[in-house]
Amino acid sequence: DADPRELENIAIDLAREAGQLARERRSAGVSIAATKSALADIVTEADREVEALIRSRLRELRPTDGFLGEESDADPGSSGTTWVVDPIDGTVNYAYGIPFYAVSIAAVQGTSDPQTWTALAGAVYVPSLDEMFHAAQGAGAWLGDRRLHVEAEVSAAGALLATGFGYDPATHAGDLGRVARVMPIARDIRRMGAASIDLCSVAAGRVDGYFERGLKPWDHAAAALIVTEAGGRFALLPADDTGRVLVIAAVPGVFDRLLTLAQP
Ligand code: IPD
Repeated sequence: DADPRELENIAIDLAREAGQLARERRSAGVSIAATKSALADIVTEADREVEALIRSRLRELRPTDGFLGEESDADPGSSGTTWVVDPIDGTVNYAYGIPFYAVSIAAVQGTSDPQTWTALAGAVYVPSLDEMFHAAQGAGAWLGDRRLHVEAEVSAAGALLATGFGYDPATHAGDLGRVARVMPIARDIRRMGAASIDLCSVAAGRVDGYFERGLKPWDHAAAALIVTEAGGRFALLPADDTGRVLVIAAVPGVFDRLLTLAQP
């Protein structure tokens, strides 16, 4: 069976190597290669190149594992372990030169469905800040070599919250309604532009909670484990009639209130 600590080390090494490539490509200049489902849903050559690098390294290191990435076809593999990869999370930030983007790499077991998989290990690397968030199942969450523990004392009133807006314009009214419902308890709200960084910000105590509808598995696979290993709470609510999941993550004192307010 796969050892979570071993998988964590692989995720860390690959996220750092991939992040360096993303940063190099960024400083050489980036242009949008294609617009996918919506104006905000874009891909750059760097997304594809970084995913190809991670995929080829994994093929050498763990040839029987599965792969689920944002920019290429899924492969179920045969080992029961699947790597879930967002080569550049925060692609719009990346394309515009805003430094909040990350490489996110997770190893999960059982299924490739986030409602039922078991997350074993994950790394989220933010190249512009040289910050490596990482976790292994049962072994804690870390920012570099500093162990992360969320604050037990924070309460919902006055929480600093982060959110994001899904790509589908049909759901934007719902997104704004959700913001209006949580605003009364919030000190303020951030839209930082990379779901994995939002989630790691909960783990690191930089925000108290985060909510977003419409995330894809690679947006949250690694960072959800980082949140829960830091003592935070994470929920992936089943898809509603728009077919989109709602992610809620928060420190324990904020979670229940946020969950109530964020649900339609
Ligand atoms: C996106 C970012 C963004 C979030 C979107 C994601 P991508 O990921 O995480 O913050 O609002 O829902 O899809 O497409 O840049 O990898």
